[in-house]
Amino acid sequence: MPQSDLEQHSLALQKIIKDKISKTGSISFAEFMHMSLYQPGFGYYSSGHHKFGKDGDFVTSPELGCLFAKSLALQFSQVIKSLDNPIILELGAGTGQFAFDCLLELEKLNSLPEKYYILEVSADLQQRQSELLQILPKHLSELVEWITQPLAKKFNGVVFANEVVDALPVEVFRYHDNEFQQKRVTWDEGFKKIWGEFPEKLLKQIEDKNLQLNEGYISEFIPHLNSWLNSITQNLNHGVVIFVDYGYERNAYYHPHRSDGTLICFYQHQANFDYFNNIGIQDMTAFVDFTALAEAGDSCGLGVDGFTTQAHFLMSLGIQNHLGDSQNDYKSYYQNTTQMKKLTMPNEMGEKFKVIAFTKNYADELIGFTLSNQLHLL
Ligand SMILES: C[S@@+](CC[C@H](N)C(=O)[O-])C[C@H]1O[C@@H](n2cnc3c(N)ncnc32)[C@H](O)[C@@H]1O
Repeated sequence: MPQSDLEQHSLALQKIIKDKISKTGSISFAEFMHMSLYQPGFGYYSSGHHKFGKDGDFVTSPELGCLFAKSLALQFSQVIKSLDNPIILELGAGTGQFAFDCLLELEKLNSLPEKYYILEVSADLQQRQSELLQILPKHLSELVEWITQPLAKKFNGVVFANEVVDALPVEVFRYHDNEFQQKRVTWDEGFKKIWGEFPEKLLKQIEDKNLQLNEGYISEFIPHLNSWLNSITQNLNHGVVIFVDYGYERNAYYHPHRSDGTLICFYQHQANFDYFNNIGIQDMTAFVDFTALAEAGDSCGLGVDGFTTQAHFLMSLGIQNHLGDSQNDYKSYYQNTTQMKKLTMPNEMGEKFKVIAFTKNYADELIGFTLSNQLHLL
């Protein structure tokens, strides 16, 4: 979109949010984030704005190349081969690149699922995914089906999401005078933050975490994490749920040094902390509290089976086996090595990104945690 169109787009969304505030009074930060990202037709993820890749605002692991998807395919293959009528359900598939590369690799591994469902809340992204996946050979593209609600029938298989949990709206709290205050958004010649009282149910969610915090400490949590996970996995009969995202276990997440929280915005590859700027045309995201995710899994009847860094997970799955042949095709070998470094080096995505896996009625040890499983950290 040209700059002037982007500005118009942002102004239109700002008006929708402002009108909402004048009708109902101030809104919670979670509601503000939800509208900024998902307001139909206008939110960052709901509109036609270019988000992914070098012309967008950020690059995700599947967008770097095919190594991430090829490695994950081996993990999926292990599960798929041991189940009856297995399916894959990918949440928030971005440009569809992961599904594209994964299906090609699963065919090589002789492990195609019966269906590859994509649960995508953004109509724009669904359209982009469909355009890309149509390029696949017909017998592969025919496996893909889009849904906008969790699967309503029982299923066996793999549920997978890369960088989706970090895009779920968060509540922001401040610990002040021995109390937790809720960040809210109001309008007074511009959007302004105010601190108010949490409704009892939300307050309980924070208190249950038993955090020891200093005066003025600010951070976040996802208010609907349990119900969201439950809605997606309640019909899973036998299988595995895998989330990859940036984040920490709880002790590190609410560490005293992280006293301003983890909320961050991305606009044209620049990080910033001004969520009242570029509303609807910049990404807004918070790191993931993996302990909260583990607790959510527990409350949904899922077993928490694995937790490790992206580097360990991909190395366990043999990412190094996909580099190619340095003698015959040095260029692609070099590009693949660069990609592998980006995905696995500690100062790149290797340690910031973690992988958590849940199982339901599935007993085999998951290959992805062979080198390291740090469940004790959760
Ligand atoms: C940062 S993008 C990641 C995209 C992709 N997985 C990748 O790695 O490139 C976040 C994605 O999550 C989707 N999303 C957000 N909330 C969702 C939800 N509740 N259920 C499913 N997808 C969701 C967005 O529409 C978008 O496709």
